[in-house]
Amino acid sequence: MTTTAQPAASAAQTSPLDEDALAGLAAAFDAALAADSRIEPRDWMPDAYRATLVRQMAQHAHSEIIGMQPEANWITRAPSLRRKAILMAKVQDEAGHGLYLYSAAETLGVDRDELLDKLHAGRQRYSSIFNYPTLTWADVGAIGWLVDGAAITNQVPLCRCSYGPYARAMVRICKEESFHQRQGYELLLALSRGTPAQHDMAQDAVNRWWWPSLMMFGPPDDESAHSAQSMAWKIKRHSNDELRQRFVDICVPQAEVLGLTLPDPDLRWNESRGAHDYGPIDWTEFQEVLRGNGPCNEQRLERRKAAHERGAWVREAATAYAAKHREEEA
Ligand SMILES: [Fe+2]
Ligand SMILES: [Fe+2]
Repeated sequence: MTTTAQPAASAAQTSPLDEDALAGLAAAFDAALAADSRIEPRDWMPDAYRATLVRQMAQHAHSEIIGMQPEANWITRAPSLRRKAILMAKVQDEAGHGLYLYSAAETLGVDRDELLDKLHAGRQRYSSIFNYPTLTWADVGAIGWLVDGAAITNQVPLCRCSYGPYARAMVRICKEESFHQRQGYELLLALSRGTPAQHDMAQDAVNRWWWPSLMMFGPPDDESAHSAQSMAWKIKRHSNDELRQRFVDICVPQAEVLGLTLPDPDLRWNESRGAHDYGPIDWTEFQEVLRGNGPCNEQRLERRKAAHERGAWVREAATAYAAKHREEEA
């Protein structure tokens, strides 16, 4: 959908004469969704659609850059040059994901400084998974396998999201997430097949990351505030519980190959459903972490703010360089 370039109009601004035009734009928007075509930045869109995308894309971008912290914690202590190079590449990828997503969010008319200010003020969220600590080297593997694995499960359907810039950013991000998942899996496999102490370290990391990874898909469908509308707008293609189930079913055979146990005594194949049953998720823990009471909430935000302040000179230099460049061109 690229033919209805119009400034966004809110109901309050419309005169009676505009109502027909607005109804036409809304009908074109609905038709584009029904035809599975993309909504592009210059297309008319409902205010609530725009606001939902800004919220979701900002939260996603924030998660990418805050997500650099738990793993960056291990870069200096990676056990070999090869592992260090892999981990550095992965953490840099996450910074890149943040940049694609802030750029994509800016196509909706928001400014990335404004989004970062909201993150720093605690007014916009990032994924609660990044509020857990990385206690051992095996956590780098567990994050790659489970956290990046859950992210891929969530994000592959976003490649078909109705908003063009978001969908296109996700295509590249998913390719890189796939490398992240594999490096985590390969790291855990090496530890699991190593000494008994290394195997135990891998198992302990999986024990700690399994349940928070399942929480990454968000609350159960009947408690998910935004799900139904997001599905209707084709921002979201599958429900939280569907994606969580898909992830569990993918992980079970992988855990077997790894020689590691998923920490859920209720986990078993259900022949009649053709899927694995799994035990109850502790949603109280999820809510507590969301409220800011996770093990690392404070530390993550403080580090982010400090990094932002320390980076001020880079932003100033880039702005000055861009201005100089414009002058020269003029
Ligand atoms: Fe990422
Ligand atoms: Fe990743």
